[in-house]
Amino acid sequence: MKKFDNVFIFDHALIKHKIAILRDKNTSMKEFRELIEEITMIMTYESMKDVDLIPVQVETPLEVTTQYKVPDESVAIVPILRAGLGMVNGVHKVFPTAKVGHIGMYRDEETLMPQEYYCKLPEGIEDKTVFLVDPMLATGGSAVDALDALKRRGCKKIRLMSIIAAPQGVEKVALAHPDVPVFVSTLDRGLNENGYIVPGLGDAGDRLFGTK
Ligand code: PRP
Ligand code: URA
Repeated sequence: MKKFDNVFIFDHALIKHKIAILRDKNTSMKEFRELIEEITMIMTYESMKDVDLIPVQVETPLEVTTQYKVPDESVAIVPILRAGLGMVNGVHKVFPTAKVGHIGMYRDEETLMPQEYYCKLPEGIEDKTVFLVDPMLATGGSAVDALDALKRRGCKKIRLMSIIAAPQGVEKVALAHPDVPVFVSTLDRGLNENGYIVPGLGDAGDRLFGTK
């Protein structure tokens, strides 16, 4: 795959370990859900290394010192429904006060084109760092459309976080939204004839919620 300045693919031993279990078709729904949350938490730490901090005065038992904090309420989470819901708790573990918006998209099973069916975002989201989360970045259609929708509503600082991606999807998002950092845990070989990521993990929404 071509190299993009806005794409970051993690090479983290713990994430690799967890993804091996996540892919296994015999992994239970409960364990699948827990793994998605744990991987998301690690990804959130890794992807926020460069976040803007503000100086604050802290009084230790010995003296007053200038320290640095993430400003309160500066982060929002937007899962792409449904599967993105599985990643919300992982970001909340790191940013417990983050407000949550929702974008509902589904892929038409024949055309693979994304369809938006819901969008509700917290007030003031324009000024926040927004984590758009979806575990699967396949053709990239859903992510590109969700990013368009967030930008139309004024969001300026958006990061996309996906656990498993196909090269086609990464390329599509990177080209359509070069200003958006894209964080991916693992890059898979490609897509099959039904638009599923291979080797992938199957349908993330179904495995999270037990719908199949
Ligand atoms: C899955 C996944 C992404 C999308 C990725 O959702 O969670 O949103 O497909 O595919 P794309 O990159 O080709 O657009 P799906 O449409 O299966 O809906 P669901 O989460 O409700 O199951
Ligand atoms: N959506 C999924 O849940 N899995 C895939 O492999 C592709 C899209």
